[in-house]
Amino acid sequence: NHYMDIGLLAEANKSDIWEITPKNLVVHDNIILGNGAFANVYKGTLIGKIPLLMVNQGLGLALESEKLNEVEAAVKRLPAHADEQNRLDFFHEIEFMKRLGYHTHIISMLGCISNPYDPMIVVEYCAKGDMLKFLRNHRDYLLMDKDDTCPIHADMCLRVKDLVSFAWQVSDGMNYLSSKSFIHRDLAARNILLTKNLVAKISDFGLCRYVDSALYTAKGGRLPIKWMSIESLKFYEYSSASDVWSFGVLLFEIFSMGDGPYPMIQPLDMIKYLEAGKRLEQPETCPNEIYNIMERCWNADKDARPKFAEASSLSALF
Ligand code: ADE
Repeated sequence: NHYMDIGLLAEANKSDIWEITPKNLVVHDNIILGNGAFANVYKGTLIGKIPLLMVNQGLGLALESEKLNEVEAAVKRLPAHADEQNRLDFFHEIEFMKRLGYHTHIISMLGCISNPYDPMIVVEYCAKGDMLKFLRNHRDYLLMDKDDTCPIHADMCLRVKDLVSFAWQVSDGMNYLSSKSFIHRDLAARNILLTKNLVAKISDFGLCRYVDSALYTAKGGRLPIKWMSIESLKFYEYSSASDVWSFGVLLFEIFSMGDGPYPMIQPLDMIKYLEAGKRLEQPETCPNEIYNIMERCWNADKDARPKFAEASSLSALF
């Protein structure tokens, strides 16, 4: 018999260390952190016993929360009209996040509710929101000279060294991800979250895949064209080296304080544009050392691109 009572399955899920009891979670449906086509994200609070996992994960998370028995969280839920594919992807994401393990620069799951009617993914809360909006909000507050003092709104000012730190933190997280044979496939400033202390965390693993060979061939879905490598655009091929290409575009977003890439190019013209050897230009506020790295990330030969393992060399700049 291939069938099992759903009650038994629910019982099995309860014994999972990741499973949260609804009474330990308050979802603030009036505080919407993000509304997407595939999921809605709300502010939430985990109350009572701190998930075992958070304790195991070391002090990083515990120290960022103020009350010992209350932890701020973000709660991802399926929209009411989710179709079967969304639903499958959502459960895929839950299983993926269980296997991910803890890293400071990767958003971690605090727990989940995997009942089939209203499943939820609960992740750490990042008070400063996504990096793209953050950069755009701080556009007029970038100090170019390290001796400049912040004129007004001292807490709004950013320095080039803060941008280098963002870049380093993301590449450190990507080094961890690629060392576990995961490719992200949607690395972009919109998918990096910032905590109240400006710790950058890679998020949005909806497109993330485990690869047992070094290469993955995609079959469908919506594509972030302007972040994609030339081999992803032409052959739908993905690897850690194509994540490195996207990282180069992310560097462009960071060092331009949130410019959109290739504003004058139609997405469908991107292959021709890149094949002609053209690339993003150096943003005005971007140091030469950083632009050199970006250009290497966009090498047509994927083996000639830098590796995330070289991330530590970024911290040596400035
Ligand atoms: N938006 C989406 N995910 C979030 C998170 N974990 N924290 C804050 N805002 C978010």
